Amino acid sequence: MKVNNICCIGAGYVGGPTMAVIALNCPKINVTVVDSNPNKIRAWNGDLEKLPVFEPGLKEIIKKVRNKNLFFSADIDKNIDLSEMIFMAVNTPTKESGEGAGMAADLKYVEACARNIAKVAKSDKIVVEKSTLPVRTAEKIKEILDSEGNDVNFEILSNPEFLAEGTAIQDLFKSDRVLIGSDSTKTAKSAAKSLIEIYSSWIPKEKILTTNVWSSELSKLASNAMLAQRISSINSFSAICEKTGADIKELSKAIGLDRRIGPKFLEPSVGFGGSCFQKDILNLVYLCKHYGLYEVAEYWHQVVKINDYQKNRFTQKIIDNLDGEIKQKKIVILGWAFKSNSNDSRESASIYVSDKLLSLDAKVYVFDPLIKKTQVILDLKKLWKKKLLVKKDIDRMLKNLEFTNDPQETILNRTSAVAIITGWNDFKKYDWNKIINQSNNKILIFDGRNILPMKHKRILKI
Ligand code: NAD
Ligand code: UGA
Repeated sequence: MKVNNICCIGAGYVGGPTMAVIALNCPKINVTVVDSNPNKIRAWNGDLEKLPVFEPGLKEIIKKVRNKNLFFSADIDKNIDLSEMIFMAVNTPTKESGEGAGMAADLKYVEACARNIAKVAKSDKIVVEKSTLPVRTAEKIKEILDSEGNDVNFEILSNPEFLAEGTAIQDLFKSDRVLIGSDSTKTAKSAAKSLIEIYSSWIPKEKILTTNVWSSELSKLASNAMLAQRISSINSFSAICEKTGADIKELSKAIGLDRRIGPKFLEPSVGFGGSCFQKDILNLVYLCKHYGLYEVAEYWHQVVKINDYQKNRFTQKIIDNLDGEIKQKKIVILGWAFKSNSNDSRESASIYVSDKLLSLDAKVYVFDPLIKKTQVILDLKKLWKKKLLVKKDIDRMLKNLEFTNDPQETILNRTSAVAIITGWNDFKKYDWNKIINQSNNKILIFDGRNILPMKHKRILKI
């Protein structure tokens, strides 16, 4: 099928950047990103400095292609109808209620998309799963798409996204691989060919991998599980290092030099955050249990459990080093984003660390170069709602939560501890010697990313 018009449902961290890169590389195709949240669409159409997603290099691409062949629209139905190819890039969070709550992926947004497409489509469509989905979701989507009985043929492709936030544009331009899963029927193969053609505009052919649909869906979950597993592995070693005097940085280097292991994803941290690792692994655990693979489920569950352990271990270290009493002690949190170069704070370790400190009545000051006070409060309130906290406790904790735009000045003013949670480059450049000296050697700095170049007894590495 010749693709002249693409519609992408979901204008988030995946939909926005992915479609911008397709539009830039395929100038003859009109790409429209739609979303059920009109504020998001407004923001994508607004000031380039205030796009809903911050990614290095993104605003420059948007500037080039917006309103040329890349459009952002709230008119979902019209754009489904107009397009030959529809990407579903909606969120698939962990289910909050019902069967599988707390583990399974909530497919309500994906199913809503499929229902919408089935209702609106008047001509044949290629429907592309861009969201991360449990293996065999395509079956469910096909059922929904065919339920209208409107004589439209739908071909479903799985094309999971592997970009990482903070490097999304670079990842999209130079993908390690593009994965396309399809059925083996003639029409499905032809649909896959249409998608291959699009990616071939900038991705070398040998990097475009075709598989069956289930392999493609499962490869995405498996990739995230393997990446997260490396982080939990290195973090588990950071705990052993602390007990034994081994140095985790030296350990990480020594392990990574083995070419069979490789150096990437061996940076110890306060624990991985982000919207995907935890939810995708929990989803994998749920799937394993569904298939009766209890030992496999437990194996992967440990990756998330070690991550929780690491966040708790870091926080407890702060408390213990402040003599077990942090009431009204001033603690500055450096970084709220789940990683540097991103404005995304979903599942950031900073939320969990701050929650624990606030619950013990510490005075918590937060700074992040990209994340605003309103988002910090939203993140904490979301967690508190999940923990069923009552208003009285929430108000007490919020009273102890402060924000600063001048972190160095704030730190210099009677701070007991600093917790570096996000690896923002700027944090390395602070005058840490001045900070330590001015505090009469009383301040403690907990470097949750091991980013500070110097050694000092007041700097506690992860
Ligand atoms: P997101 O929350 O940033 O964006 C999803 C968007 O979909 C939201 O703006 C929401 O309003 C919209 N939406 C939901 N239901 C809709 C509907 N029925 N109609 C129209 N719009 C609807 O999510 P994201 O981070 O972009 O992730 C999307 C998917 O991609 C998830 O499955 C995720 O696991 C996967 N993924 C994410 C990343 C990442 O780095 N964030 C990377 C790879 C894969
Ligand atoms: C991750 C994967 O890397 C992407 O391939 C995948 O597409 C994406 O999830 C997804 O499915 O959403 P992302 O979460 O954006 O990407 O960012 P990562 O670079 O993987 O970092 C995740 C978390 O792990 C961050 O909190 C990061 O700081 C932490 N991390 C990463 C470590 O603690 N140590 C490391 O060595 C690497």
